[in-house]
Amino acid sequence: MTVTRRHILKTAAAFSLLPSLAGANQITLTARTGAQLIAPPGYPETRVWGFEGRVPGAPIRLSQGAQISRRLVNELPQATSVHWHGIRIDNAMDGVPGLTQEAIPPGQSFDYHFKVPDAGTYWYHAHNQSVEQVARGLYGPLIVDESEAPDVDQDLVLMLDDWRLDPETAQITEDFDNSHDLSHAGRLGNLVSVNGSFDPIFPVSRHQRLRLRLINAANARVFVLGIEGLAGWIVALDGMPLDQPIPIDDTFPLAPAQRVDLVVDVSADDPGTASLFSQERNGSFGLARFVVSGQATSRPRTDVRPLPPNPLPDLVDTTQASIHRMTLQGGAMRWLESARLGGTELSGRELAQLGRFWALNGIAERPDDPFLDVEKGSVHQIEFVNETAFAHAMHLHGHHFRLILADGSLGPWRDTVLVERGETRKIALVADNPGNWLLHCHMLGHAASGMMSWFRVT
Ligand code: C2O
Ligand code: CU
Repeated sequence: MTVTRRHILKTAAAFSLLPSLAGANQITLTARTGAQLIAPPGYPETRVWGFEGRVPGAPIRLSQGAQISRRLVNELPQATSVHWHGIRIDNAMDGVPGLTQEAIPPGQSFDYHFKVPDAGTYWYHAHNQSVEQVARGLYGPLIVDESEAPDVDQDLVLMLDDWRLDPETAQITEDFDNSHDLSHAGRLGNLVSVNGSFDPIFPVSRHQRLRLRLINAANARVFVLGIEGLAGWIVALDGMPLDQPIPIDDTFPLAPAQRVDLVVDVSADDPGTASLFSQERNGSFGLARFVVSGQATSRPRTDVRPLPPNPLPDLVDTTQASIHRMTLQGGAMRWLESARLGGTELSGRELAQLGRFWALNGIAERPDDPFLDVEKGSVHQIEFVNETAFAHAMHLHGHHFRLILADGSLGPWRDTVLVERGETRKIALVADNPGNWLLHCHMLGHAASGMMSWFRVT
């Protein structure tokens, strides 16, 4: 048979079908608009942006070492991307526009494929115009199961958010770049949701053992959390198991982007109610209720075992590590005198007109050159010096680090550290993941108005 032009065209057409056929098997993650009830019953539904139009997006759950494959489809009116927060990921999949990929325009898609090396509680969220996109609801939980599950009766994810809603219409107030928020504590809301609802109820029974995975998806609110009618331990921070679980006998902070895993036993009476609450200046507010019916066992378990460790790098001795200082500057009450933007030194006043209120080491944007350029495998200390009048939640991409405690010893592994006003916090890390990694404040308005840097591992 002679090959005619017609045949060639046909063949070409058949081949060109292959990629889209393969695409049919791709699991998609569609960023789009939606509406759901977030305010208390009786209010209208809130228009949100979410993965599959829901807030939070569906939990992505898989076992340790497994591979995630998702085709992000952008049906939003804005370009977007997804960052897999806390995953020690392949750099190309980190989801940072302008650093690891281009933002995905409306109507287009991007394929994310990567392995999850560590078990624990993580999350995924939009990483383009995050101050707006995360506030509108573009986030979801990412749970990686240990090969041997801990002994609990229920494993519950509680994803906390803080919404600024119009009190009449329950719609999101669209003042994402309001200079007061940017230059102060960030966008604080007037309604706290857990898993996208106000004051949800979880059915439990007395003496049941619960694993609670708390994730702070708020733009800027630092929660100070407490439990009532529940007793137990903190077993992991930012996904990483603690060597020794910490008994909970007081409230504990959870800064934006941080996670904490608790193992708690229900001690409230049957019938009765236990709760997770948030301690605020003007009292404590219930966030979620655990309604007790029935009794699981005649008495609670009394002990807890640490979760199995993750394959983190060895980091026990930091005496040889070089120390790098990162100074956090600006904001209300400590206004920037000047800082660099676009390669020029501008006055604080000029910066404010451009919506820049903060700087890291004198630079009010993600600089062209990295804050650190280091060799793979090298060990470093970073000292965050907070000269501002506000707290900041500093997050490092692609790595976990250890806190250096006041006595110089090494504390827990984290990916986000809360640096209180006037405080200096030191961290230590092994730069073992090659690529370009963002380092920024997770108060998303602060990041948008100057608190953004990066480091390179080669
Ligand atoms: Cu959770 Cu750079 O982000
Ligand atoms: Cu900040």
